[in-house]
Amino acid sequence: MKYFDLAGYRASRIAQGCMRIASLDKKEVDTLIKTDLDCGINFFDHADIYGGGECERKFGEFLKDNPSLKNEIIIQTKCAITNGYYDFSKEHIIKSVEGSLTRLGVDCVDFLLLHRPDTLMEPEEVAEAFELLSTQGKVKCFGVSNQNPMQIQLLQKYLKDIKIHINQLQFSITNTGIIDSGLNVNTEKAEAIDRDGYVLDFCRLNDITIQPWSPLQHGFFGGTFIGNPDYSSLNKKLNEIGEKYGITATSTAILWLLRHSACMQPIIGTVNTERIKDISRGANIDMSRQEWYELYKSTGKTLP
Ligand SMILES: NC(=O)c1ccc[n+]([C@@H]2O[C@H](COP(=O)([O-])OP(=O)(O)OC[C@H]3O[C@@H](n4cnc5c(N)ncnc54)[C@H](OP(=O)(O)O)[C@@H]3O)[C@@H](O)[C@H]2O)c1
Repeated sequence: MKYFDLAGYRASRIAQGCMRIASLDKKEVDTLIKTDLDCGINFFDHADIYGGGECERKFGEFLKDNPSLKNEIIIQTKCAITNGYYDFSKEHIIKSVEGSLTRLGVDCVDFLLLHRPDTLMEPEEVAEAFELLSTQGKVKCFGVSNQNPMQIQLLQKYLKDIKIHINQLQFSITNTGIIDSGLNVNTEKAEAIDRDGYVLDFCRLNDITIQPWSPLQHGFFGGTFIGNPDYSSLNKKLNEIGEKYGITATSTAILWLLRHSACMQPIIGTVNTERIKDISRGANIDMSRQEWYELYKSTGKTLP
């Protein structure tokens, strides 16, 4: 596993998403987290809403049973999606974090992200909430998710001594919105239209780590593209390049994200330990620039 500096933490390049652990029993959760740690994955992504709180609770149970492993684990959680809407109010943010701390059984989380933009946001209120949580030692570092550059800048304006370190975005080889426009500048192609305010370049310019979520899914939770007949050219190319390196198509698709020079941290959601081992093995390989572009084009995308 490769590591990078994330706000002073030595974080694994791959993070484990915990959105799908609610259905696992205690032993399965134990095996999953220990497999991650054995593979060098030390970063775990949660949200207050995952499994209605059950994901954080099960993770907390693991931490209680394995106190010696607590120091090896970096915990991130998210807040602000609630009852079918988004809530960036000070009251909600604080209440949500306190709920997460209770379920996880910890005094603080390493990272807190705002899950989805709330257009009714009062940035002053968010700043007050973040400052209080930081002063109280309940949250070490902060970030956002699914936000464009203007939204981040607006928030950052009010966060005096707090930096936004992370932006979690949907990005996979079949969801390439954040790179398409940059590849098609000054062309008449539909891909030249930017929908996200040049979020990739903005994050790089401002040292904000992009965490691609759903790295193996197509559409919006459309299922995995791995082995999916609708993506036969992509799968053929993933298999061909994977074979060269002795890794699977799944691992190759994650490697494609890792190869981007923005030093992104993909959040994998699999709860299958064999897949985790396979993906981690592949994370140490360096894919060539040519292979990276061949994979991009195998989805049907063209370069100008
Ligand atoms: N910020 C946001 O708005 C947001 C939104 C969604 C998710 N997230 C975060 O991102 C994490 C990852 O999301 P995700 O779970 O959608 O990611 P994912 O890794 O793209 O998808 C995982 C799902 O794909 C299946 N899968 C993976 N490889 C497979 C293969 N080779 N063959 C068949 N099935 C395969 C997994 O099944 P198995 O478990 O059986 O392998 C699992 O159901 C979440 O846990 C969460 O932490 C954030």
